[in-house]
Amino acid sequence: MRRVMHDRFGGPEVLELREVDEPHAAPGEVRIRVEATALNPVDWKIFSGGPAAASRGLVPPLGVGNDIAGTIDEVGDGVSGWDVGDRVFGSARTRALQDHTVVDPAAERLARIPEGLDAGVAASLVVAGRTAWDAVEQLVERAGETLFIHGASGGVGQLAVQLAVRRGARVIGSSSERNHELLRALGAEPVVYGAGLPERLETMLPIDACFDCAGADGIAAALQAGVPIHRCIAIAAKGAHGARGVATDLAQTGALDDLARLAASGDLEVAIEQRFPLERFREAYERLMAGHARGKLILDLTR
Ligand SMILES: NC(=O)c1ccc[n+]([C@@H]2O[C@H](COP(=O)([O-])OP(=O)(O)OC[C@H]3O[C@@H](n4cnc5c(N)ncnc54)[C@H](OP(=O)(O)O)[C@@H]3O)[C@@H](O)[C@H]2O)c1
Repeated sequence: MRRVMHDRFGGPEVLELREVDEPHAAPGEVRIRVEATALNPVDWKIFSGGPAAASRGLVPPLGVGNDIAGTIDEVGDGVSGWDVGDRVFGSARTRALQDHTVVDPAAERLARIPEGLDAGVAASLVVAGRTAWDAVEQLVERAGETLFIHGASGGVGQLAVQLAVRRGARVIGSSSERNHELLRALGAEPVVYGAGLPERLETMLPIDACFDCAGADGIAAALQAGVPIHRCIAIAAKGAHGARGVATDLAQTGALDDLARLAASGDLEVAIEQRFPLERFREAYERLMAGHARGKLILDLTR
């Protein structure tokens, strides 16, 4: 089978598409025929080395990616609740950009793909959806509050805007000007990021909470606007100004099922910026690393 791998840390140039033996489901595991994988910044933060790899104890040789959607084609001894033919999506840390992957459903969260939901959309919900869900659950305490989302037009940001609006929040979202119409359509009041952001936010008060998906300057601007630090979450610049984060490796959150239901019913719009065949993985990561994707980047393994 095909697998994207790297033998050393570095940029997309260290990644190689190789032909390797297929894995098989050991006791307690299921094997999934991967149909689509959604890319996340954490993928390149791991393959380039640094804290994201070190904090997970990851050392090459490694595979790549996390978010998968596909069909179970082997079930190991002792697994209950999952059958061959089940369409699923979930996490396979460093084992996503490959034709088959094995997952321990007791340790890595899997959920069922609802009838009619596209595999690329389902895969997009794993890290981005779950992170947006958890942040909004924690930050929007009651309807009518204002949440400022910094980096609102990205993979996490667009989902967080919609989930916060569903909870009855007023949402202010920062992005470049080209994405302001998009943010308005999702229900947010757009604001341009960069120099002068604190002053612009001061014309939009009150602001009760801040979800920073783009960098420490969002938390700094929110603090200046009077948001207390305990109502700030930072995921791009971890620990910025003492803000807390959101755990990514949650094994048992129920959010995936809820997110999939919302996406399948059309109540949650999951924007796909571009789909690539697996062979174009390097180009897809270069696009992601440029930092201005307007939605998710998907590798389609069925092509
Ligand atoms: N649990 C976790 O800790 C966790 C989970 C998921 C993601 N993350 C992190 O959260 C960040 C966002 O992830 P993502 O998947 O949403 O990334 P993404 O899709 O690549 O985000 C791209 C967006 O960032 C915006 N952006 C770029 N520079 C900006 C700036 N200076 N100020 C404000 N916005 C800016 C862009 O908007 P424009 O195109 O309009 O410029 C673009 O829409 C990443 O750092 C990722 O590693 C952490």
